[in-house]
Amino acid sequence: MSSDMSVAVKSGLEGVVAAATTLSSVDGEAGELIIGGYRLEEFAGRATFEETIHLLWYGSLPTAAQLRDLMATLAANRPLPEATSSLIRSAAADRMTAMDALRMALDSLSLVTRTEDHNDRTAQPLGLIARIPTIIADYARLLAGTDVIAPDPELGEAANYLYMLRGARPKPEHVRALDTYLNTVIDHGLNASTFTARVIASTGSDIVSALVGALGALKGPLHGGAPGPALDMVFEIGTADRAEAVIRAKLERGERLMGFGHRVYKVRDPRADVLAVAAARLLERGAADPALYGLVRHVETTALRLLEEYKPGRRLQTNVEFYTALVLHSIGLEAELFTPTFAMSRAAGWTAHYFEQQSTGRLIRPQSIYTGPHDRQWVPLETR
Ligand code: COA
Repeated sequence: MSSDMSVAVKSGLEGVVAAATTLSSVDGEAGELIIGGYRLEEFAGRATFEETIHLLWYGSLPTAAQLRDLMATLAANRPLPEATSSLIRSAAADRMTAMDALRMALDSLSLVTRTEDHNDRTAQPLGLIARIPTIIADYARLLAGTDVIAPDPELGEAANYLYMLRGARPKPEHVRALDTYLNTVIDHGLNASTFTARVIASTGSDIVSALVGALGALKGPLHGGAPGPALDMVFEIGTADRAEAVIRAKLERGERLMGFGHRVYKVRDPRADVLAVAAARLLERGAADPALYGLVRHVETTALRLLEEYKPGRRLQTNVEFYTALVLHSIGLEAELFTPTFAMSRAAGWTAHYFEQQSTGRLIRPQSIYTGPHDRQWVPLETR
């Protein structure tokens, strides 16, 4: 498009509807998230991650037999190709971030998708979804200087992930909390990483490329990279009496508070509520630190009050990342693993969107307005 400045540029694409989807619905004014027809609050604390994958992928909760099949397929696909394992070892030797290691390792899974049955629509995505937790857990153990642990086919996705990270069978309440977390973040409308996956799918490119692109988008602090910094802020505050001063100083410096604000939600993010309930449940069962829990709640109240003071009318509320930090920390995950664990779940959403987009057959290709100069004259090299 030429430089017709009367055309409004929506550089963040806000309000632009670029896809129709049956996967999830985000209503930012009502504070409602629907996944596969169910309100988040209805299923997130009850379902296993595998049940939610089935819901997203096949449009319904599984029967007992379907769930057994899905769990068996995922468990059988957990081991990594040797080349991927060796890449992870090199990344650990260079102490790369877990997200960079995951991105590189995910890319190398073209080694397996290229040999899979291309007539079976689920083989590739399930093969990728199953291997992501193995990559993360192997990498975390190598970084910590410990040996990797083979996946346990007897365990479900959440339990096996915690087992591979720690080398011991996890507590049931930790597995429950992790399932709730994975269910909560599995899909979320046309967020930046899902949009990236759909743009790549729309060109007819392969599923590994779509996932690698999506992962790159998720990594940024404005999308999936916020929970680590959100927890850092809570630790920096340290005690409730310091909350006001620390947060005020951040806002005075023009910093953003991680874990607050959202492009779509103008009321409280329903995922924050679901995870706050999961954190409270961990606390009741003695599986969370009461002092940290109390501090987090106090920091949240103070942050919301000060955001209203410094940014009146912007309707900045708690988002999913704030309670993600508390839940994942309480079940023993290092902050470095928060975003990779988000990716482990969202990969199920990305893959479902990949196929949904491909089925439309439509290339995503917006336009830009040219704002550079016109009519420049060629100057020969020797006179420039
Ligand atoms: N802390 C302080 N101020 C914030 C803020 C935050 N977390 N989020 C937004 N604002 C302010 C902006 O500075 C802007 O102020 P201004 O009107 O004075 O310029 C105003 O609120 C509107 O922000 P805008 O950048 O238009 O919002 P957005 O829709 O682009 O931002 C996020 C959405 C998520 C990128 C943003 O809220 C943010 O950066 N949050 C922190 C990171 C985070 O938690 N990410 C995880 C999202 S699930």
